[in-house]
Amino acid sequence: MNPEVITLPESVRRILDQAQESIPQGLLPISVFNDPDLHKVEMERIFGHNWVFIGHESEIPHRGDYVLRYIGEDAFIFIRDEKGQIRVMWDSCRHRGSQICRAESGNASHFRCPYHGWTYKNTGELVGMPAYKEAYGGWDRSQIRLHEPAQVDSLYGLVFACLDPLTPPLDEFLGGAKWYMDFYHGLGEMEVVGEPHRWSVDANWKLGCENFAGDEHHTLFLHRSMWEVGAIQVPRDRMSDGYHVQIGNGHTIDMGMGPDPDESGIEYMDYPKEITEKFKTGHLSKDQLALARQSVIHVGIVAPNFAQLHLPLTSDAENIPPIPVKTLRVFQPKGPNEMEVWSWCVVWKGVSEEFKELSHRVLMSTFSPSGIFEQDDVVPWLSITKAAGSGFARLKQPLLNYQMGMEGVGVSKPVPDWAGPGTAYSPRFEEGNQRSFWSKWLRDMLVEPSKVSTP
Ligand code: FES
Ligand SMILES: [Fe+2]
Repeated sequence: MNPEVITLPESVRRILDQAQESIPQGLLPISVFNDPDLHKVEMERIFGHNWVFIGHESEIPHRGDYVLRYIGEDAFIFIRDEKGQIRVMWDSCRHRGSQICRAESGNASHFRCPYHGWTYKNTGELVGMPAYKEAYGGWDRSQIRLHEPAQVDSLYGLVFACLDPLTPPLDEFLGGAKWYMDFYHGLGEMEVVGEPHRWSVDANWKLGCENFAGDEHHTLFLHRSMWEVGAIQVPRDRMSDGYHVQIGNGHTIDMGMGPDPDESGIEYMDYPKEITEKFKTGHLSKDQLALARQSVIHVGIVAPNFAQLHLPLTSDAENIPPIPVKTLRVFQPKGPNEMEVWSWCVVWKGVSEEFKELSHRVLMSTFSPSGIFEQDDVVPWLSITKAAGSGFARLKQPLLNYQMGMEGVGVSKPVPDWAGPGTAYSPRFEEGNQRSFWSKWLRDMLVEPSKVSTP
């Protein structure tokens, strides 16, 4: 056993020991989905070490604009400061720790702590203390500022932060995932439509991640009514067409492929012409272009908990034609058996208002708490979390099965000479993307992150 694990609580050690043995066999201890001690370790080892998605730059367009965001369960202020610089600052006073930001979003030049009134500029510097002379007698406060994550960086306007100073830079952390993000994010500036939609689910956060890693097998069954109402464009018997890609570092992509565009006449998810033209401006390689052209579903995760989903949908086949929707997602932990799902609707800047509104509306009516897809998914996620926290689970330590696509289990095979980064498998009915997510999770859980440097 890894010596680092010895310092962990007994229940966590037991689960990780079991996981070390079982994950290489495609089996997973059910307890990973609901154990309070394991959850605490995840907050340090997963969220204290990895780059975590904070938000999109377009959400805070003006100086002073801010929103509250989370790394693990800790609140951070995501702000554009008075100089226009984007910052991420821990929402905790440097005096005695009180939260200083009382609203979820707004515009502020300063934040004043409600406890003793220490006041910070939106750049993070401490600039005010009530009764400064009487209480502190001119003490030099100029070096005190709000804590910030060790690293903050962005790509295509997507801002990420990392608490661990020794984690490789964002570019390296994303690695091959950029090649696939280029397909769409690389086409030009995107913007968020409205505020992110968020809702609470009584289920463990990792259930959302492993689902968005690529799981069309469940679509076939859990979402089967979607074909009856005409919400899905891909025929049921073509759902496995395409690729699962284990990119590395736990990141995955799942691409559903439609028929040959030269025959079907449908390319680039049937976007309006002003968008499809963007694909052909030379910034994508021949291989990227060919995949983007024929893709009809693009879903995947950037580990640990950031996901994207991009596909044409309609919630009302008789009255609304299918339209491409793109959502960015975070599966935000809120304890071992609760998460908040955050969903951003994104579109390219410059698309028509009509497209923007329709894409947003279709997303809300499909992938949102009242959405016709989302309601299906929540049901098994709740029950898995409940089963994982049960007495039976604690006593028997049952293992779940993620073996589809392993040697001798199923038909999916590695794609020889895959043009992109990572290892691709086809057809898409396989669980290698999930195994890749879990292997990365396990690697992180076995190592203590380096201590966060503080100002
Ligand atoms: S805790 Fe913030 S001013 Fe005292
Ligand atoms: Fe689903």
